[in-house]
Amino acid sequence: MYDIHNHLPFGISDGPGERSISEAMLDDAARQGVTWINCVCHYAPAYEGLLQNIVADLIPVAAVRGIRLHGGFEYDFAHVMEEGFKPVTIADGSPFFLVDFRHNDIPTNLNRTIFQLTVDGYRMVIVHPEQLFSPDKIRTFLKLQDTEIVFQLNAVSFLPESGKFINAFANLLLKAGLGHAIASDAHQPEGLRRIALAEAREVLLRTYGSETVEVLFDVNPKRMTEGKDPYRVPAPPLSWWDRLRYGIRG
Ligand SMILES: [Fe+2]
Repeated sequence: MYDIHNHLPFGISDGPGERSISEAMLDDAARQGVTWINCVCHYAPAYEGLLQNIVADLIPVAAVRGIRLHGGFEYDFAHVMEEGFKPVTIADGSPFFLVDFRHNDIPTNLNRTIFQLTVDGYRMVIVHPEQLFSPDKIRTFLKLQDTEIVFQLNAVSFLPESGKFINAFANLLLKAGLGHAIASDAHQPEGLRRIALAEAREVLLRTYGSETVEVLFDVNPKRMTEGKDPYRVPAPPLSWWDRLRYGIRG
């Protein structure tokens, strides 16, 4: 599996406090079949050099476990709006970069921002919409479907411990075609912020079958690191009631 969003680097932002915890996360990732990780922290100008130094320190530790690492950032949308914004993307040569909206509001100038990013050669990945937004935002997201943005859902959002609301919303997004890849967004080796990829894979396998699971966990994340469009995820259509409620045709 390719994990495009994992807060593996220690001693920076809200990631693990020390190296041994990052190593425990790498052990867990290897057990689950992860072979590539985009190691992130929440962006701050002061972290630019520091993040890459920490990732460089972890590269050999990961390599012995069969995992390759890349250092990237998770940006608040406020940073995306800054003059001259130039993100570190999820992989060398990939146009995709991670954006956390941080709250339930969608800025009125989002379309314009997406267009400018496209002109500059970048593509926004909106992270964990199921944890940030209310379901009424699906209408707005559907209007963005023809733009260049992509949605990444968190693995843990499909597990019972995230609660019925988030479980239901994550599935609703998938069925509406608004989930392109699943990543861990892990910060710790245990608890709600652990790497829950293998567990989510099991749950989704029962619900959607192997083709959907492979696209979400393997194919699309890898394609995005290569700068290719993620495939539309095969999922059963929304019920007539959900289509009516969210203004979805077809
Ligand atoms: Fe994150």
